[in-house]
Amino acid sequence: MDDKERSPSPEFSPLAFGEDLAPLPEYKAAGTTEVDFSGLLGEPLKLHEDLKSGCGGQLWPAGMVLAKHMLRYHRERLQSARILELGAGGGVVGLTVAKGCARLDHPLYLTDMVEMEPLMRQNISLNGLEDRVKARVLNWGEPLSQEVLEHKPNIILAADCVYFEPAFPLLLQTLQDLLAVEPSATIFFCFKKRRRADMQFLKAARKTFTVTEIEDEDRPVFSRDCLFLYTFTRK
Ligand SMILES: C[S@@+](CC[C@H](N)C(=O)[O-])C[C@H]1O[C@@H](n2cnc3c(N)ncnc32)[C@H](O)[C@@H]1O
Repeated sequence: MDDKERSPSPEFSPLAFGEDLAPLPEYKAAGTTEVDFSGLLGEPLKLHEDLKSGCGGQLWPAGMVLAKHMLRYHRERLQSARILELGAGGGVVGLTVAKGCARLDHPLYLTDMVEMEPLMRQNISLNGLEDRVKARVLNWGEPLSQEVLEHKPNIILAADCVYFEPAFPLLLQTLQDLLAVEPSATIFFCFKKRRRADMQFLKAARKTFTVTEIEDEDRPVFSRDCLFLYTFTRK
């Protein structure tokens, strides 16, 4: 077979759209944005966005939906929760929670791959949240650190973490590991369906967890953009 006959391998890149792949957010220049979630945050959250460390360096739509949902419906419960965010990117969800709660009884962990650590730290300090929020490396599929095991997160946040098929089993493994550490934990999971394969993730999740689509007054709006909001709990 010569090169002309061979079909090109489907390389993952946010710029490589297949025919069943809706566009990902457009690349933006680095800069700082302010968000207040329609006034739900008294003082806006500042977020530096910079794609040089990876795709998590910009705000993603599911992150905005999940951050607003947590503020609107769960503020009270979050104050005493042990919270960990997976695939936090610049940290929009966790930082919104940390800024929006009157108090946090436990440190909130933003986690992502090592490349995102500087941006997570930058956004923590941009908002003066060093006393409430910690940035840590947590690679999906790898054993949980002693610190995470001891923290025993009971609220796990994950937004826009479904976009790269080879990572699906790794993410599922980490979610399972976290629920093994704290069986009563609730995972708040928001994602945007871009490709047919994304539903395979949900299918696999349903085999392992109790998956519940949750109410949100904005659902009629965000569901039009193929955004889905769920909780995953232990079966
Ligand atoms: C699309 S971004 C979403 C960022 C943020 N949650 C938001 O909603 O704006 C996905 C994030 O998952 C992280 N990620 C991807 N694969 C990962 C892995 N194997 N382990 C840990 N984090 C991963 C990326 O670095 C990126 O920050």
